[in-house]
Amino acid sequence: MLVNIHTALEKLEGGEVVAFPTETVYGLGARLDNPSAIERIFETKGRPSDNPLIVHIRDIAQAEPLVREIPGAVKKLMEAYWPGPLTIVLPRTELVPDRVAAGLDTVALRVPAHPAALELLAKSGPLVAPSANPSGRPSPTRANHVEHDYAGRVPVLDGGETRIGLESTVLDCTETPFRILRPGALDAHSLSRTCGHQVLESADDPSARRSPGTRHTHYKPAADVLWAELDSTGELHPISSSATRNALLLLHRAAEPFWFRGRVIHYGGDYTRFASQLYDLFRWADTLGLPKIYIEPFTSVSPVHPLIPALLNRIEKAAGQ
Ligand code: TXA
Ligand code: MG
Repeated sequence: MLVNIHTALEKLEGGEVVAFPTETVYGLGARLDNPSAIERIFETKGRPSDNPLIVHIRDIAQAEPLVREIPGAVKKLMEAYWPGPLTIVLPRTELVPDRVAAGLDTVALRVPAHPAALELLAKSGPLVAPSANPSGRPSPTRANHVEHDYAGRVPVLDGGETRIGLESTVLDCTETPFRILRPGALDAHSLSRTCGHQVLESADDPSARRSPGTRHTHYKPAADVLWAELDSTGELHPISSSATRNALLLLHRAAEPFWFRGRVIHYGGDYTRFASQLYDLFRWADTLGLPKIYIEPFTSVSPVHPLIPALLNRIEKAAGQ
């Protein structure tokens, strides 16, 4: 059910969950001060209770009461990148419910760069919001993805197609060096240059102690996601061409321009476009009932693009690695 901002605010006030747009993906929001609405988020998504939620706020001033302290280097990051795709993890105060933090003594905070989200947050106060997909599935990048996922039962504030299409960079700032827990559009190099400190690249922590979300399956369409290679004749290797007729192919050789033919999509090195369309294409393959999605590897392309770590992370998780 699509709603306008007035209805979205009424529903949030009444303890309902409401999906809203951000610049990364759509979130499923509930008010931070409403414990039963927060419960409803876990129920609606089927989210494991050990996976904490990001608190979305309007500005730095709304962050201050929620964290014990904002160190100078973190303040620089907030000032440089908020509103934007950066989620900052800091030690929390008692204003953040245990349930939101999933028992951790920290909170993840972010100011989304989307006018509708900022208008909502200015009027509602802080909103906890995971990505609006059912747990484990690709995140929604359009209002109709949310409509589809919950058969119209969740109210959605429609803000069009999300600009970035992959979830925010999650940065642990509880100790130095800071560490990326989930790669996103802002990479370690830019963050490090801005705050003047070393920022460690995301490394999946086997114990998943710091970011519980990394333990769970993510971003998976119904189709199998597989890495593919093309041989010298242009055939997808080692699969026969009859098999590829039932597949969606996402190709990404940097030298050639963008093209789109049937179920073959060639991104020609445009990683920004690749990222913004990845989840929509995953969903498109499912709509067509295709059993497989092949993605050409792109680990060795140069020059290095800041979205590559985030794209690799999402594709590897979707491929079940
Ligand atoms: O772009 C985004 O971040 C989107 C939009 C809606 O803002 N939200 C999003 O939320 O992706 P979610 O719940 O799908 O992912 C949040 C990630 C999870 O991996 C979770 O484990 C991690 O952030 N996280 C949340 N609170 C944390 C905390 N206190 N410490 C460490 N990791 C935390
Ligand atoms: Mg998510």
